[in-house]
Amino acid sequence: MARRKQIYEGKAKILFEGPEPGTIIQYFKDDATAFNNQKHAVLEGKGVLNNRISEYIMMGLERIGVTTHFIRRLNMREQLVRHVEIVPIEVVMRNIAAGSISKRLGLEDGAVLPRSIIEFYYKDDKLGDPLVSEEHITAFNWANPQEIDDMMAISLRINDFLSGLFAGVGIKLVDFKVEFGRQYEGDMMRLIVADEISPDSCRLWDMESGDIMDKDRFRKDLGDVTDAYREVARRLGVLRESENPGQSGPVLVSDNGD
Ligand code: TMP
Ligand code: ASP
Repeated sequence: MARRKQIYEGKAKILFEGPEPGTIIQYFKDDATAFNNQKHAVLEGKGVLNNRISEYIMMGLERIGVTTHFIRRLNMREQLVRHVEIVPIEVVMRNIAAGSISKRLGLEDGAVLPRSIIEFYYKDDKLGDPLVSEEHITAFNWANPQEIDDMMAISLRINDFLSGLFAGVGIKLVDFKVEFGRQYEGDMMRLIVADEISPDSCRLWDMESGDIMDKDRFRKDLGDVTDAYREVARRLGVLRESENPGQSGPVLVSDNGD
């Protein structure tokens, strides 16, 4: 078989041309970066876990009527997704103060925000993904006002869905980041959820112990990063306890390749 054509390599994923027009294969690497690539490590098994967790979440979103780029998982590290034009904005939804908002506004980590807050960051690694306002987004034509409204409305629905999903397994959804893509069908365009939703892009705290179960374990050198991701996957039910894929702890359920 001819080698697949690589379209793009990011910090945690590689995109390859898909088997049919309009599709892409999204490959999840084990690489973790933080602080705009200043910190880097390879965390064995992370890509496999994020592939599964993101699949599970995207399928859940589809069930509540939120369209995503996800088509199907291909194997341990790859999923088939719809080809979209990525909107160069990261939408961050926050329920509890942590990370950059705590620093910027002098809030105490863990403080419940007066209401869920949406922020926009301009996707540009050279600039370190700066916080921007709707004014910047429309003035520079990164997205139009209707798209901003759509991204906000969809993000609120994702927040409701994810908050409930995680609360059901004893996890607090502190915040998360989501990306959107434009999908063109004839002369119609719609915004759909793209990229991934995983412990790399969410803050997740254990409801009882307050333990951190997301990429902050890596950012803050807390250790046991993949163990925490594995526990998230286990609680969501995408892992079976009994098997062992070369590492201690539970393994992935019903993989079909790789
Ligand atoms: P922040 O507090 O560092 O701004 O992060 C807010 C949320 O967005 C947090 O869940 C982590 C996620 N995030 C990403 O997914 N990618 C990024 O590049 C950054 C900075 C944050
Ligand atoms: N993803 C970003 C980076 O690789 C930042 C972060 O998640 O902390 O630098």
